[in-house]
Amino acid sequence: MKVIQTVKELQTLLRQYRQAEKNIGLVPTMGALHEGHATLVKRCVSENDICVVSVFVNPTQFNNSDDLKLYPRTPEKDYDLLESIGTHIAFTPTVEEIYPEPDTRIFDFGGLDKVMEGTFRPGHFNGVAQVVSKLFDFVKPDKAYFGEKDFQQLSIIKKMVKQMKLPVEIVAVPTVRESSGLAMSSRNQRLSEQQREYAAGIHRIMRESTLMMAEKTPDELTRLVTEWVNNVPELRVEYFRIVDGDSLQQISSWYDSGNIVGAIAVYCGEVRLIDNIRYR
Ligand code: PAJ
Repeated sequence: MKVIQTVKELQTLLRQYRQAEKNIGLVPTMGALHEGHATLVKRCVSENDICVVSVFVNPTQFNNSDDLKLYPRTPEKDYDLLESIGTHIAFTPTVEEIYPEPDTRIFDFGGLDKVMEGTFRPGHFNGVAQVVSKLFDFVKPDKAYFGEKDFQQLSIIKKMVKQMKLPVEIVAVPTVRESSGLAMSSRNQRLSEQQREYAAGIHRIMRESTLMMAEKTPDELTRLVTEWVNNVPELRVEYFRIVDGDSLQQISSWYDSGNIVGAIAVYCGEVRLIDNIRYR
């Protein structure tokens, strides 16, 4: 595995691979890697000749400077993991390398970025789009891999690719969970053992709610899930929405859409967690 820090070095190397007609896959990450990330990377390794994994904690997508400061960083462990699963290139740029000048671009995702995470983390998806569009431009991947865990992010990336007609195929990878059901996340490292047990309630409650679609309306289930999660010690729901999986707009009847997703953001102590579940 090559660990590369500069865009120039990355592009020089990738040019050679492209000339040799190698397929290139990209997995963008912010490091503090876990089994969820590893699943994306393994898929990328198996489907491409060359797998590039970027490890970059992108400051422009953090709207809270404490969150940026506290974001876990485990570079050596990350490189060992990436090497062990067959990554060809780890791209680990500095902030100056990605943003030699401030990125002033404003993206418009036609409403997808205005709801849920967009409401509670203003500017977050603009920052995600800034960094991902740069990574796509530097790497020019044939395929890029994103997790369904960040369901709204995935919608927005797909939208960006469509809007900009980027020649990349977006591959969606199902959420990888702990045996307790808790969605794997770099932020879980900040939870105590006890908090991890409480946080497992998020998925358990959402899963139980999918069995109640016959008796409850989406509104009723929204209220119930919120109440049940709030009743778990240390958990505090920021939002729970049941939405059409394409428009991300709330539905009022189960007949409104054939693609229905419940998306949640919850504080467990000081740590903000997100998850989602498919209703249909
Ligand atoms: P990060 O949170 O490091 O996640 C990197 C990728 O791993 C994302 O596509 C995310 O959805 C996926 N992922 C995280 N946990 C997962 C899990 N439990 N199961 C499946 N996939 C999972 O998302 C970001 O970084 C950033 O916003 C980024 C796209 C890199 C832009 O900075």
